[in-house]
Amino acid sequence: MNNHGNLKKLVLKNRSYREFDGSLPISYENLHGYIESVRFTPSTVNLQPLKYYIAVRPEELKLIRENIKFAGLLPGYNGPDKEHNPTGYIIIFTDKDIAPKPEGFDKDVGIAAQTILLEAVEEGFGGCMIGSFNEAEIRRYFNFPENLSIRLIIALGKPLTEIVLEDTGSDGSTAYYRDKNSVHHVPKRPLSEILLNK
Ligand SMILES: Cc1cc2nc3c(=O)[nH]c(=O)nc-3n(C[C@H](O)[C@H](O)[C@H](O)COP(=O)(O)O)c2cc1C
Repeated sequence: MNNHGNLKKLVLKNRSYREFDGSLPISYENLHGYIESVRFTPSTVNLQPLKYYIAVRPEELKLIRENIKFAGLLPGYNGPDKEHNPTGYIIIFTDKDIAPKPEGFDKDVGIAAQTILLEAVEEGFGGCMIGSFNEAEIRRYFNFPENLSIRLIIALGKPLTEIVLEDTGSDGSTAYYRDKNSVHHVPKRPLSEILLNK
């Protein structure tokens, strides 16, 4: 894979980052810009039931951080330490008043989330999709209206860590891991395994 175009480079750079530089916070304006773009992403029957909330205030960051789970596959890892926490979050909802069965629109959510992350990476930021969160606690704190179902949270900031992409090994494991230098490795299935055409 030589001569990557710009988008391909962004796709490769867009890893799930979980440690951030607390001294270089992502701003409300940065995140607002990403929501301006997701307005134009595809939507099932163009229903556009997704809604968004931008969190950057310290007390909001703390509450969300306490109610999400990072990298469940890493033994003994409880997410970034205090100085390296995400500096912003985008919560993605599906409005049940528009789409009574929100699960049917999780493809829309995925498209929106990836678009947000690619734009963040292009601006020198990055983040991680978070599907593992305590919805009840987050709802209680923010008092979001009942019709808004939280589908995904995106943690964002200025990434600190380097992440290594590699092909899955002979054991076929897709489990990400950290080596003895704490470098994060992400095994991806090789093209020959995922593309049916021979
Ligand atoms: C829908 C979805 C939900 C995810 N939820 C979490 C999560 O709750 N916590 C977490 O640390 N990573 C989460 N991830 C990130 C994956 O762990 C990550 O994509 C995978 O390890 C591969 O790494 P990569 O994104 O750098 O390719 C999620 C990813 C997706 C697509």
